[in-house]
Amino acid sequence: MKGIILAGGAGSRLYPMSLVASKQLQPVYDKPMVYYPLTTLLEAGIREIAVISTPHDLPRFRQLLGDGKRLGIHFTYIEQARPEGIAQAFLLAESFIGNEPVALILGDNIFYGATGFNETIRDFTSGATVFGYSVRDPERYGVIALDTKGKVVDIIEKPKTFVSPYAVPGFYVYDDSVVARTRKLQPSPRGELEITDLNKSYLADGHLQVHLVPRGVAWLDAGTSSSLHDASAFIQAIEKRQSIKVGCPEEAAYRRGFISDDEFAALIAALPHCEYRAYLEETLNKPF
Ligand code: TTP
Repeated sequence: MKGIILAGGAGSRLYPMSLVASKQLQPVYDKPMVYYPLTTLLEAGIREIAVISTPHDLPRFRQLLGDGKRLGIHFTYIEQARPEGIAQAFLLAESFIGNEPVALILGDNIFYGATGFNETIRDFTSGATVFGYSVRDPERYGVIALDTKGKVVDIIEKPKTFVSPYAVPGFYVYDDSVVARTRKLQPSPRGELEITDLNKSYLADGHLQVHLVPRGVAWLDAGTSSSLHDASAFIQAIEKRQSIKVGCPEEAAYRRGFISDDEFAALIAALPHCEYRAYLEETLNKPF
């Protein structure tokens, strides 16, 4: 399974902070936002990852994340010249995807808890899998419509009337027909290749699975100043209480066995002395 982190976009709702750094490089408590979706992919066992961002911001991501070797993974960097839709990622990443299935995560989506993503990735064979997450304000999202037996019958983008509380979070898994299907999509009235249209293409063929995310999971999106602040407060509360880090790619790579004890120790030795380093040192000494 390949992975894509989509981290472009305008970030206009974060203005003027987006003048300083792209949205996905803003701090969420103690680390850059992109660390969280990256960690989600690593925890799911994905080691080949494309980072897609704007021509302006891509060099900064490359500087931050490098080639991935220190984490035992590999990064590919791809420009999105204009924000022409989430689904456009698959056209831009066509040669990266090749004939493999691919998981796409949005660079401003933060997940915490037992999401079930690992099992989904492990058991994935074909079609598409998206998730349903119960929210208070489904009208802001793509929403799943279910029949009385709980079967998915439609996905409706920003429904004006209540359909269900289940929004589709920014983590999606597709088989290798994704590029061909995206090519057939027409841009929406707002000029974007819509991820909801792609999901509907799988649904129309009976190839869309939806997994409802268990209620103990947090899904945070950090697209506004207020939600960014909330996300930071949430992560701080968890980290202080449990003395763990959420969204720590070095730890995820180590625990997943992508790097050995020696490689992990070398990675730590290259970091400045700080709380982040101390945490990784503790992880090395207490690997459970
Ligand atoms: P949005 O939050 O919908 O858009 P945005 O990031 O441009 O923010 P704003 O609305 O404040 O201008 O995008 C969701 C995520 O998808 C976000 O991480 C950016 C990413 N994205 C792209 O990288 N390229 C795109 O073409 C689109 C539409 C989104």
